[in-house]
Amino acid sequence: MIVLGIETSCDETGVALVQDRTQVLAEVVCSQIDLHARFGGVVPEVASRRHLELINPAIQETFALAGLPFSAIDAVAVSNGPGLIGSLLVGVASAKALAAAWDKPLIGVDHLKSHVYANFLEPEPPPFPFVCLVVSGGHTSLVMARDHGDWELIGSTRDDAAGEAFDKVARLLDLGYPGGPAIDKAAKQGDPAAVPFPRSYFEGTHDFSFSGLKTAVLRCVEGYERNGDLPPVEDLAASFQDAVVDVLVETPLRACHDLGVTTLVAAGGVAANSRLRERLTEACRQHSVGFRLPPFKYCTDNAAMVACHGSFRFERGEVDSLDLDTYAVSAYKGQRGKAR
Ligand code: KG4
Ligand code: ZN
Repeated sequence: MIVLGIETSCDETGVALVQDRTQVLAEVVCSQIDLHARFGGVVPEVASRRHLELINPAIQETFALAGLPFSAIDAVAVSNGPGLIGSLLVGVASAKALAAAWDKPLIGVDHLKSHVYANFLEPEPPPFPFVCLVVSGGHTSLVMARDHGDWELIGSTRDDAAGEAFDKVARLLDLGYPGGPAIDKAAKQGDPAAVPFPRSYFEGTHDFSFSGLKTAVLRCVEGYERNGDLPPVEDLAASFQDAVVDVLVETPLRACHDLGVTTLVAAGGVAANSRLRERLTEACRQHSVGFRLPPFKYCTDNAAMVACHGSFRFERGEVDSLDLDTYAVSAYKGQRGKAR
């Protein structure tokens, strides 16, 4: 079974061919970072126009890399939400056109769940049940996964996503775009104990909050600027990063403990953070919790995870019609319990 995956939910144009659910035959990820850097963030209209230019060459390139004809595939999978609608529409329209022209099934997949599926591309996929921390630019959620297709939202951010906080604080500290990798790099030279930023925990829930922390960094910078004694930017970056990481380590581990689950999985762009990767690995070892993490390149947006997720849905007979729609907001947002 060979599934073509297409990913255009934000600012990466991704195409991949995956065989038998988990074997990546070929993949292309075209980053738009350079295009958006001068604006300090993703400009939705610019992103969708670039997807439009890149998508057909990226599809051709992926088949050429795999050395396969178009007829070799069994289905087309595409992220149809959550994300930027204009960007999603490019991928979904392309996937529909290919599915119709080649007479192949179309499978829409949830982008956030696809991030979790990045872990299934690894030689040792996570055993069910597991708790998954999904930390991306737009979302910070904890999901209880009992089986493929049997997922429950058990916690989420009440305001900003962790990635959004990284991006906004990096902008405040003039560290550039994208903010997560810039803070990660600066923090390596800084003292995480330099500034005691707040950590948010919600007793009795597994929710998160990062907007207070973001404001605390702003107030701290303003205060120091007034007095003319701003600490080194590396110390601010390291102190902020540790405040985020402490919460992203403690809350998921508490969830595992509360639910009696012995495997924790991380996924999404922020899971590329080196400090978070180190701290989660160590904390899981200490608490005898099994830990799975995608390789660095599969943390951020890519189409291999989309094709993998699509393959598992296809295997269960879950296919969509050519009416497949896009959605901007997560099916999880503001809800507890079962999500599609
Ligand atoms: O999953 P992703 O590629 O796109 C979304 O689905 O949102 O995540 C992008 C987010 C951005 O906020 C980016 O700053 C963050 O992931 N990110 C990081 C790192 N690399 C990417 N955050 C912290 N440390 C990193 N090394
Ligand atoms: Zn993503």
